[in-house]
Formats: sequence, structure tokens, C-alpha cells
Amino acid sequence: MSHELSRRQVLKLVSYASAGTAVGSVPLISRFFVEKANAQTATFVRENIYTFMQSPAKVAALRRGVQVMKSRPANNPTSWAYQANIHGTTIRPLLASWNTCDHGTFFFFPWHRMYLYYFERILRQASGDSTLALPYWNYSDVGAQRVLPAPFRIPANESTNSLYESDRTGNINVNSGAALPATIVGYASAFRRTNFFHTTTGSSFGGRRVSQTSHTASGKGELERRPHDQVHASIGGLMGNPITAAQDPIFWLHHANTDRLWERWLRQGGGRVNPTDDIDWMNDTFTFFDENRNAVRMSARNILDTATQLNYIYDDPLTRSSNAV
Ligand code: C2O
Repeated sequence: MSHELSRRQVLKLVSYASAGTAVGSVPLISRFFVEKANAQTATFVRENIYTFMQSPAKVAALRRGVQVMKSRPANNPTSWAYQANIHGTTIRPLLASWNTCDHGTFFFFPWHRMYLYYFERILRQASGDSTLALPYWNYSDVGAQRVLPAPFRIPANESTNSLYESDRTGNINVNSGAALPATIVGYASAFRRTNFFHTTTGSSFGGRRVSQTSHTASGKGELERRPHDQVHASIGGLMGNPITAAQDPIFWLHHANTDRLWERWLRQGGGRVNPTDDIDWMNDTFTFFDENRNAVRMSARNILDTATQLNYIYDDPLTRSSNAV
């Protein structure tokens, strides 16, 4: 399959290009989609993938966005490889922000939310669909949805299906679909935790408190342990190791689900709140890249309310009731 734009897209691109003025070294393709992205002011709804995939147009946009990102060179911050390397990589020398995922500390949740947010903006622009939002994989609540969503398995061909990854282990990729075991997707024990963090151990919802970012630490919170880690291990292949995990397209839907569960946890009451009076958690900053390849810095205080600060919500009503951040 070629990475070329369709004839219709090219014609559109040409008409936009001739209407605009030249902008330095920014390729026409990104100018076109940036104009569209900036015009977008709506709130994006992250849907359950099983709902999302009922629309062939949405699946096509998702595939196209991934494919376009994969076609970009690894030193372009909006490429698939660069984005995955932000999470982890063995490649040296490290480029800006590579190898910076936060695991085993109370930065696990905010860091991954920022990461997904900018990835989603890049993906939307790459897809050419100004309405595209990242779907989530709800292996948590519905048994039948524990099967890897069909578009990620079928067709089982990496060159024709940008969502397929041949390295996944066991029978996760089989045509009929093998479900993740119920024993690994449970989140009840994480939800029983009322504290977001603990100062000396992980025993909490969100992980051990540290004063600064740590790429990998040992204070995993309950949700990072399970389901998060268990799902990674169960899918295996690239997903089985933080150094490679974000190269598998399902990574992003797995983390959208994790992000959704954070929102749900907050609305369980019983004192469950974000640590907004912790100055390190609130203010420590992390660097990502936006769809224009600009470095952007964010801290947890910028991502507490997804609807007003990040322009997205989940289709899950249990993430939106009552309680504040
Ligand atoms: Cu940073 Cu699912 O891992």
C-alpha cells in the first residue's frame, strides 16, 4: 500500500496551498492540516473502540493517521517512531524527550495524559480528519470487548493495515479473537484505594510520591500494576517492554482506557481526589511536541480538567458525574 495521499486529497491540498503564502520550511502538507486543526474548537469525544469501529470512515481515518505518521522520518517529532521513542528506546544518541516515560511514581497518570494529548493532536492532523479523537479499548467493563478490536488484527498484514502488529504474543492476534483473561483486567483493587499516592511505597491508586520525574521507579500504584502492566504483558511483543511498547498502535488505546479509569476513580467519592496541594505533582514540567513540531511544556496543573484544559471527554458517563478534579 502506498503512503501517498489520494488524488482528491492532493487536489484539495493544492487548492489550499495556492491560496496561502509560503511559510518557511513548513511543508505544505502540515500547513494544510494545521489550518484545519486550528479551526477546530469543539470538544472531542474519545469513544469506546467497539462503538468507534462501527464507522468505517473513523477506522479509515485512524489507519490513515497512523500510516502517515509511520511514513515520517524518526527525527521528525510528529513521526510514529519519534513519538514511540519518547516513551522508550534503545537508540542512541537520544533526541529531545526520548526515554522519558514516567513509571512507578505518582507522575504515571499525568505524564501519560500529556503524552496522549499531544499524540492525539498529531494523529488527528496526520489523518486529515479534523474530528478524529483517540478511541479507548474498554477491556475493563465488558467481557466481550476483551478481544483485541478487529481492526488491529484484520487484515493480519503490517503493510496493508497500519494498526496490525505481528509481534503480539499468544493468540491475541488470531482471526477469531482471543480475549484477555478476566483475571488481568480487573481494577477493583485499585479503586478500593482512596489515596492517590503514598510517600514511601506504591500502595495507593496513583503510585509513590517523588519530588522529581523518574523514568522507571519501583513505587507503582495499584492501577499501574493491574490492569495496566498485566495488559502490556498479556499482549506481549512490543507491548511487553516500555522500551518498545508505544510502537504497537494498541498502546494508545490501552492508555486512553487507563486515562478513563483515572477519571472514573475520581468520581467514586470517599476522599478520592488528585493531589492538587502537592507542589511537585502540580508543577513539575515535562516536554512534548505538538503537531507543528514545536516543543511544548506542561505540568499536571494544566491537565486536571480534560474538558476545559485539553478539549476532550470520554463517552463514558461515569467519568463525568459530579465531583471536580
Ligand atoms: Cu508508559 Cu503503558 O506505559
